[in-house]
Amino acid sequence: MLPITLITLTLITLTIPSSSSQSTADVCIIGSGISGSSVAHFLRQYSPTPISQIRIFERHTVVGGRMATVTIAGETFEAGGTILHPKNYHALNFTHMLGLKVNGPSASESSMSLGIWDGDKFLFKTIDFDSKNQIVQYFVSLANSIRMLFRYGVSLLKMNNFVEVTVDNFLKYYESKESRPVFSNVEDMLKWADLYNLTTQTLEEELVGLKFSPLLIEELITVITRINYGQSVKISGLAGAVSLAGSGGDLWSVEGGNWQMAAGLINRSDVTLHLQEEISSVTNAGGFYELNSTNGNSYTCQITVVATPLDELDIQFTPEIYIPERKLQHTYTTFVRGLLNPAYFGLNAVSDLPELVGTIESSELPFTCVSVLKEHAANDFTYKLFSRQSLTDALLDQIFSIRNETIRINWGAYPHYHAPEEFAPFILDDKHLYYVNAFENAASTIETGAVAAENIARLILSRLSGQQPSRSYGLKSSTSDSNLQHPEL
Ligand SMILES: Cc1cc2nc3c(=O)[nH]c(=O)nc-3n(C[C@H](O)[C@H](O)[C@H](O)COP(=O)(O)OP(=O)(O)OC[C@H]3O[C@@H](n4cnc5c(N)ncnc54)[C@H](O)[C@@H]3O)c2cc1C
Ligand SMILES: *[C@@H]1O[C@H](CO)[C@@H](O)[C@H](O)[C@H]1NC(C)=O
Ligand SMILES: *[C@@H]1O[C@H](CO)[C@@H](O)[C@H](O)[C@H]1NC(C)=O
Ligand SMILES: *[C@@H]1O[C@H](CO)[C@@H](O)[C@H](O)[C@H]1NC(C)=O
Ligand SMILES: *[C@@H]1O[C@H](CO)[C@@H](O)[C@H](O)[C@H]1NC(C)=O
Ligand SMILES: *[C@@H]1O[C@H](CO)[C@@H](O)[C@H](O)[C@H]1NC(C)=O
Repeated sequence: MLPITLITLTLITLTIPSSSSQSTADVCIIGSGISGSSVAHFLRQYSPTPISQIRIFERHTVVGGRMATVTIAGETFEAGGTILHPKNYHALNFTHMLGLKVNGPSASESSMSLGIWDGDKFLFKTIDFDSKNQIVQYFVSLANSIRMLFRYGVSLLKMNNFVEVTVDNFLKYYESKESRPVFSNVEDMLKWADLYNLTTQTLEEELVGLKFSPLLIEELITVITRINYGQSVKISGLAGAVSLAGSGGDLWSVEGGNWQMAAGLINRSDVTLHLQEEISSVTNAGGFYELNSTNGNSYTCQITVVATPLDELDIQFTPEIYIPERKLQHTYTTFVRGLLNPAYFGLNAVSDLPELVGTIESSELPFTCVSVLKEHAANDFTYKLFSRQSLTDALLDQIFSIRNETIRINWGAYPHYHAPEEFAPFILDDKHLYYVNAFENAASTIETGAVAAENIARLILSRLSGQQPSRSYGLKSSTSDSNLQHPEL
């Protein structure tokens, strides 16, 4: 029994190099978000020849996935992934290459006033003083920094350092391909950039270890992790650092919508795009995969890339695949055109309300944050709220005194983070079934999607060309390979 199994396994792994010697392979990508579109882009950029056709399947009518916009009060706003960091170099390059325009932080956003609400009272508020005068602005922000220092102490100054070290480590993923390995699993990828340890502890443990003040962790840092990941400081240190990096200055987005990055990459990568086509099964049919869609179509490809979180999908894999259980954090995004009710916050005038109301961890709080997106007129604003549960009309009628338009989106937004974090493999079956979103357990952002996709593109190409021995049961060595390959030639 055993020898026969071994021979069968060996022969299966050998179909990979033999098909590549026929020089082309078809790639099927499930998902048209930043991950799927980036895989297509980097496959074409790095190796125009061995990949013949690239298909992208998208169950929705539009591309972009969690990069999406909503229109309210006749204006377009980001509904999912919004902010990009100045050192998100793939996103920056895509934006430039595609001729898209960058939206800098608007003057109002960069000086957005902040209040920390505990459900009963504001624990902290920055001074809000709207002025076009730069010198006035400077002194207002200086005064606010001093107020923050008074409340949170000097450990506030350590925040920047903690974030910078992490961001600098992350920059290793932009080093040239000559010096940067191809990673076949997330753990190795993180270890290489000295980021792995941050996934073994919670953000809270990490910051307590660095002697951050408990009040800073409980209030300001919790406000930030709740806004960016809908979760507390119990998320991993890495997800926490990424979340803190997303609260700094010089943040940007793509004018008209970040989804245009995915649209542009797909448009320029010679992709056959199948919109409104949901993949329901992926079957390894020996040397190639058969993908069936709910439309009743069937496609074959040598390589299949899953570029979406698998956690809430019921794609049937044959043979079965095994990945660690992961829950997605659902973030309900609610857009309201109207006017906040100051009485709900114990205030007399709307003008006393901070432009961004963040919250601390409390089971009584029905929302995570509410912020002004746009002031149309004195009594006419557009707001965005995040919450862990859907906000009922009854509740919204308490929070708002005027509500002319309401849009609700329920996102399976990002992983529910843990420490220590467990990672699914990049290669789901030891053959040519890849999973970009295994990296989302490190951190879920537009840029990390592109970084993981770039590695997957390289992993596909290196395994196609047989440079990297596949991990198949440790049977393959270069000698046995050449010996066994011989009969096939
Ligand atoms: C509310 C919210 C706020 C966020 N804020 C930020 C932020 O400010 N900055 C930031 O960088 N990131 C942010 N993120 C995270 C960021 O948006 C995501 O990490 C990123 O967009 C994920 O891209 P992806 O391509 O990996 O997955 P997705 O964008 O989810 O793409 C997967 C695609 O696959 C499709 N699909 C799924 N199953 C199938 C199937 N069976 N067949 C065919 N198609 C299928 C889906 O419809 C989807 O279009 C935010 C996310 C949310 C939800
Ligand atoms: C971005 O583009 C520039 C110019 O084309 C290139 O030198 C650089 O390596 C690119 N950066 C990344 C991260 O790809
Ligand atoms: C990560 O943790 C391990 C084990 O605790 C330790 O040996 C290693 O030096 C740490 N690496 C970094 C980069 O901190
Ligand atoms: C697709 O790319 C071409 C250039 O390669 C450009 O002219 C066209 O406008 C793009 N279309 C879309 C929908 O982005
Ligand atoms: C996929 O579709 C083909 C053709 O219709 C069919 O023969 C096959 O059984 C289907 N596979 C699965 C797993 O449903
Ligand atoms: C919003 O609704 C109120 C009535 O509740 C109405 O008076 C007001 O004109 C509306 N404002 C806008 C901008 O539609």
